[in-house]
Amino acid sequence: MTRTEEEPARPTEPLEPLNPRAVGTSPVRLDGPAKVTGTAPYAWEHALRDPVYVHPLQSAIARGRVLRMETGRAEAAEGVAAVLTPRNAPRLADSSDRALAVLQSDDVAFRGQFIGAVLAASPEAARHAASLVDVEYEVEPHDTRLSSDRPDLYRPEAINPADEADTEEGDVEAALAAAHAVVDETYSTPMEHNNPMEPHTCVAVWHGASDDGEPALTVYDSTQWPYGVRMTLAPLFALAPERVRVISPHVGGGFGSKGLPHAHHVLAVLAARTVPGRPAKLALTRQQMFCLTGHRTPTIQRVRLGADSGGRLTALSHEAVEQTATIKEFAEQTAAQSRMMYASPNRRTSHRLAALDVPVPSWMRAPGEAPGAFAAEVAMDELAHALGLDPVELRVRNDPETDPRDGRPWSDRRLVECLRTGARRFGWDARTEAGARREGDWLVGLGVAASTYPGFGGPGSVAEIERTSDGGHAVRIAAADLGTGTWTVLTQIAADALECPFDAVHLEIGDTALPTATVAGGSAGVTAWGSTIVAAAREFRAQHGEDPAPGARTRSGMPENPDLRRYSVASFGAQFAEARVHADTGEVRVPRMLGVFSAGRIINPRTARSQFIGGMIMGMSMALFEESVLDHGTGHVVNHDFAQYHIPTSADVLDIEATWLDGPDPHAGPLGSKGIGEIGIVGSPAAVVNAVYNATGIRVRDLPVTPDKLL
Ligand code: MOS
Repeated sequence: MTRTEEEPARPTEPLEPLNPRAVGTSPVRLDGPAKVTGTAPYAWEHALRDPVYVHPLQSAIARGRVLRMETGRAEAAEGVAAVLTPRNAPRLADSSDRALAVLQSDDVAFRGQFIGAVLAASPEAARHAASLVDVEYEVEPHDTRLSSDRPDLYRPEAINPADEADTEEGDVEAALAAAHAVVDETYSTPMEHNNPMEPHTCVAVWHGASDDGEPALTVYDSTQWPYGVRMTLAPLFALAPERVRVISPHVGGGFGSKGLPHAHHVLAVLAARTVPGRPAKLALTRQQMFCLTGHRTPTIQRVRLGADSGGRLTALSHEAVEQTATIKEFAEQTAAQSRMMYASPNRRTSHRLAALDVPVPSWMRAPGEAPGAFAAEVAMDELAHALGLDPVELRVRNDPETDPRDGRPWSDRRLVECLRTGARRFGWDARTEAGARREGDWLVGLGVAASTYPGFGGPGSVAEIERTSDGGHAVRIAAADLGTGTWTVLTQIAADALECPFDAVHLEIGDTALPTATVAGGSAGVTAWGSTIVAAAREFRAQHGEDPAPGARTRSGMPENPDLRRYSVASFGAQFAEARVHADTGEVRVPRMLGVFSAGRIINPRTARSQFIGGMIMGMSMALFEESVLDHGTGHVVNHDFAQYHIPTSADVLDIEATWLDGPDPHAGPLGSKGIGEIGIVGSPAAVVNAVYNATGIRVRDLPVTPDKLL
């Protein structure tokens, strides 16, 4: 019998591991040739006839109301098909998600919010006509300033994804009062913006009169989650989910910003509704992305650590303040990792939010863990200094036997091994006292930090296997490839699961015409989809035997992994950095970084290494460069382009190396794999900042570490 997503198997024994043959090797990306020759279709590039181009109109105020929009000149401009405003836009069937209730009211809740759109025959015509629309507002005072002493800070019900906002264990205050050494410092991180290479694009086609008379919608999208786009858009437009098809075979990066649908998806469909049968093409500009595709919340984090004279933590308190929007809550899990990283009998974590007149924050690579680990791991460095203890040794001494949250055994932690291996390979022995090493004009230091990322990757996906007439297998699942290698690694996994050659697998992903798949997020994609493919392949072989006839077909979900209840599954890592700080200018260079990771089985070393070092570069970027500057007078991010929002260039990225401990995590499912997409950014900012301290003796607690903070 074919198992379906409604009836997944529920084994109580650990799932049988996959026998790896293609898995563990490094084939080059299957999609590589199409990409470098420009033939891989991205959302904007699907050949569609007679499109209209959508140029958004955006609010020039941060709070208030649109009183009047003068659209006559725009409507009369050449090539203009329509001008949408809150007055004439189609009504949505569901406006309860105010971030997605595009053009459903005159209210303005943040600067840059959609207040209309021009639909025209060319992008240039649409953009020009948009400049001809005059808008009159009723302006209300706005408030975009986050601080930790705001009286309106509140505790969210839950933090991303669904954990408790606060935890309390033992007596932190008493333990701090009795501690041999104490750290009590406040750390802050700025608002940051995701900048994937491919800006967000959504091309929508409204089929008003389909064969059966029901409307239908096709969306060519740049998304981390085709089914998520379908599930979100369908009820807004009163469509049954199966009337919405989302096609997204290639995605030019996302980092979380393409994980959930945003307002531009809704705007594209509103435009398509206005011109049935004609594709409505909407591509956000780089500048528009800075207010329309989410951001990493700024954080203010107070970390208090107490330790005994043996360097063992007696108290650990991590309290985070962050922002959300007035129209929708997003509560990031900034302090969550402090619940499990180190042993401490007394512990407190908390999250407080201010609802400001800003766009809704969202996912940005390792949301929560990345800024949280900056504060927590710099604080550990400060504690090591206070104790006169080596920072590697301090972390080793506080490595918990079991998960401090619930006492479950670790599935495969090995953080201590990562730290020891990294220290040896990086030449940690050469580390001096802070400020003691100078080479010419440069102060040189080494820093370390630990990393973790949760082991997500559960059920929810379905895969279909079909024997093809060429003797191969079609493998179908609506997974996404963000440029990270999904096409390649799922093919490797399917080949091993079907015990067939790599090139006998014909993978199909990125389309809701395929069976459902979970999000390419939470570093869970490959483990979740890959385990589903393994389950479907086993089912297929059980059903159809060794030599199935062409057309033989099986669909299956993934059985629950009982070990995920028994064990605490997470990835871990140790990050090392060397910093060189110019004694006169404060310029920081990072000549070397090394990450050593414990992330279970590595499916494809080539693509995995790229993920790890990509994360580490993004962490170095977070440490030294990235900062969205919000002008509180206007509520506007002023540095909204690559000229002013700094990210590293190749000249900033020098000797950077990622390596990992061998072997599958025996409890992480049939693949033994865990997340690798995000852990690279976790801890790497702290490693850089700790290296800067070791070089200069200057402790920077406010990211990014710009030269002015070192002079
Ligand atoms: Mo990632 S920020 O979970 O897409």
